[in-house]
Amino acid sequence: MKDVITIDGPSGSGKGTISKLLARKLGYNYLDTGALYRAVAWKVKEKRVDPDNDTDLKKLLENVKIYFKGDRIFVDGKDVSSDIRTAEIGELSSQVSAIPAVRAALFSLQREMGLQGKVVIEGRDTGTAIFPEAKNKFYLDADIEERARRRYEELKGKDPEATLEKTIEDIRIRDTRDSSRESSPLMKTDDMVYIDSTHISIDDVVAKILDHLK
Ligand code: DC
Repeated sequence: MKDVITIDGPSGSGKGTISKLLARKLGYNYLDTGALYRAVAWKVKEKRVDPDNDTDLKKLLENVKIYFKGDRIFVDGKDVSSDIRTAEIGELSSQVSAIPAVRAALFSLQREMGLQGKVVIEGRDTGTAIFPEAKNKFYLDADIEERARRRYEELKGKDPEATLEKTIEDIRIRDTRDSSRESSPLMKTDDMVYIDSTHISIDDVVAKILDHLK
């Protein structure tokens, strides 16, 4: 498992930007696992499925085809890369990701993609549940105000209703849900290198990760 690097952390910790940059520097692939949960949430919304209705959700999970082409993500043939980046889908993805059937459905997909090797895989449980055997595991963090500020910068062009205050509140709710769910919660384990990016630049975080690679 030498060439799988896992990066976990909460919303706005910089995982996405840093994982992409790291992958580019190493010539690795990049797997954004949050996009898979967002894709499921997008389909749940499109089909108007009640995520608490086990039968309907199971049917949706059995039939949905989610795949990447380059850095674009597709759901049943439709490119949803932009549509999944709204605050609404972020919130719904956090809700559906707490449902064990959703995690189970996405587990093998993530393992298969990771086992192709040379991959930076980023999410909430990549070092705990998806690739617990990886040698290089990182946990990225930052203060909640800074994380909300970053998320708000991403959202404000796309979502006219976004405000910084609302983004802080949304992130607080998601942090609590993502860390307290029973099924593979977001968690830092002792074998992960902890990096706080509140006061350091993206390049410095990438440099720190490169220094730590075993
Ligand atoms: O990183 P993101 O904001 O795109 O993730 C969206 C949601 O997906 C997040 O709130 C929780 C869930 N998620 C997860 O449960 N496990 C992962 N490995 C990645 C994301």
